[in-house]
Amino acid sequence: MKQPNLTIVSHPLVQHKLTLMRDKNLSTKGFRELLREIGLLLCYEVTRDLELSLTQIETPVAPMIAPILTGKKLVFAPILRAGMGLLDGMLELVPSARVAHIGLYRDPDTLQAIEYYFKAPSDVAERLVIVTDPMLATGHSAVAAIDRLKQRGVSDIRFVCLLGAPEGVAHMQKFHQDVRIWSAALDEKLDDHGYIVPGLGDAGDRMFGTK
Ligand code: URA
Repeated sequence: MKQPNLTIVSHPLVQHKLTLMRDKNLSTKGFRELLREIGLLLCYEVTRDLELSLTQIETPVAPMIAPILTGKKLVFAPILRAGMGLLDGMLELVPSARVAHIGLYRDPDTLQAIEYYFKAPSDVAERLVIVTDPMLATGHSAVAAIDRLKQRGVSDIRFVCLLGAPEGVAHMQKFHQDVRIWSAALDEKLDDHGYIVPGLGDAGDRMFGTK
């Protein structure tokens, strides 16, 4: 079924890199590098409709009227820890963006998100905030992070992930219908431990080699 708030980034480079990342034999180094590269490509897509205006400049050859970004300034908001994996690629594309860190962990029994850290720029409410987490599984962390940003007055929020599960997308749709999601793929389901199937395993462990 087509999800109204979900954009699947079907670009061949994204799909190819994602397939390499799913392979359980990929090294930690390879996983981290590919996540950075996909972060950059997803950032390209999530910023596709940013507002432009026209400005007068002079090239070495002639004066001209040229487009320039004028909309809200950006904040990238990785959900710790795996969300950090997408950050470097995104900052490569938008080096002037600010960063908000949102520390959440999943209670292994309830799968609920528990906050342990939150630090955002003081003007976060005036900015477009792009929340990142490679895995949109149950959706509890994503919803909790967005709850927190909305409490801080943020009204313009987007969510970028590598893989979504139907359960996570539905959970986001239920609590934050206004937040659009960009993902490289929508997988089949969650297993009994809240892992995405077929998925790619624990993204944090694979990024940092902690298993
Ligand atoms: N978090 C992960 O890292 N992987 C999953 O499959 C689900 C949640």
